[in-house]
Amino acid sequence: MKIVSVVGARPQFVKLAPIHKAALAAGVEHIIVHTGQHYDPMLSDVFFDDLGIGAPDVHLGVGSGSHGVQTGSMLAALDAVFDEHRPDWVLVYGDTNSTVAAALSAVKMHIPVAHLEAGLRSFNRRMPEEHNRVMTDHAADLLLAPTQVAVDHLATEGLAGRTVLVGDVMTDVLFEVRDDVAGRPSALLEELGLTRGGYYVATIHRAENTDDPDRLRDVVAGLAGLDKPVVLLAHPRVVAKAASHDIQLMEGSLIAHAPLAYPELIAAALSSAGVVTDSGGLQKEAFLLGVPCTTVRTETEWVETVQLGWNVLANSAEEIAAAVTRPRPIATDAAPYGDGHAAERVISELLDAAEA
Ligand code: UD1
Repeated sequence: MKIVSVVGARPQFVKLAPIHKAALAAGVEHIIVHTGQHYDPMLSDVFFDDLGIGAPDVHLGVGSGSHGVQTGSMLAALDAVFDEHRPDWVLVYGDTNSTVAAALSAVKMHIPVAHLEAGLRSFNRRMPEEHNRVMTDHAADLLLAPTQVAVDHLATEGLAGRTVLVGDVMTDVLFEVRDDVAGRPSALLEELGLTRGGYYVATIHRAENTDDPDRLRDVVAGLAGLDKPVVLLAHPRVVAKAASHDIQLMEGSLIAHAPLAYPELIAAALSSAGVVTDSGGLQKEAFLLGVPCTTVRTETEWVETVQLGWNVLANSAEEIAAAVTRPRPIATDAAPYGDGHAAERVISELLDAAEA
């Protein structure tokens, strides 16, 4: 069996790692196509190096652009790639522009498409990720859902017949990396002179938080006013937007820092007093590491983290301060994100469906 995985943005490289490993273990031919949506080495190359993926087989080099330009360039380039490889499956990941472009190209070429992380919904139609997810789910032939909540959303949309619950592949990679970094000193702590439990880790990159200067100013003020140092692992988008609106990312408690490689991020989160983020992945990583999370959004797809008390939504400087300093949540042994073996299940579902 031959699978072509299409990835392009940072969280997709993390999800790709356990899939690549499981594909190789099962003797499946696995071709990796990188669209080039993310191209900074710290958003791209370090993940391929650190997570043992190796270099992509095909690199489209699409780069940044408006949604239409970026998605359209990928679509145009992918037809030839799929035509050359004619895989049994095109596997697409998550909810980025790379996801929807690959799903659309493959479905039009009558190549079966599987969507990993299917069924997540924010029900916020202002989010580009929400358009990408809904369109990808309705185009795909096989919907690989990470949680029961995602399975239920797909059933509501009439897609139950194509849905399988596999668990969350981010759990697979996180558990491995957590065990690797445990006990090792965090390079970030040494570099910034921080102590275990004496700082927060923050990431802010979503359009709804960065693109409106008033909104970004409020979020930054909330972080800068916190009671401990806040290491902001700054995505290029937030750096660019802050610079163009003259918003300081180095004031009060805030320490702006370049994004970290995955093992360093996990080590930094693990030793922190809490995480403040608008990233989807980090909300779950914090939960799985037992670190309290504050999410700077009006809703989340990962509702289990909120229901279990480990994540709180906060949308103003005051709400962020209140959420971050809340009492530590009650420990839970609930495992809504699977057992760390989701990738093996994905490959076995693809094998079974290809043989059927
Ligand atoms: C994308 C995804 C988002 C995901 C995020 C993970 C879409 C619509 N959004 O958002 O769902 O959570 O990746 O990080 O697909 N830039 C660089 N270097 C890079 C990449 C981007 O400088 O390597 C800058 C450019 O100014 C670019 C901007 O960041 O215009 C936005 O990049 P883009 O890939 O369009 O979206 P992200 O915000 O990264």
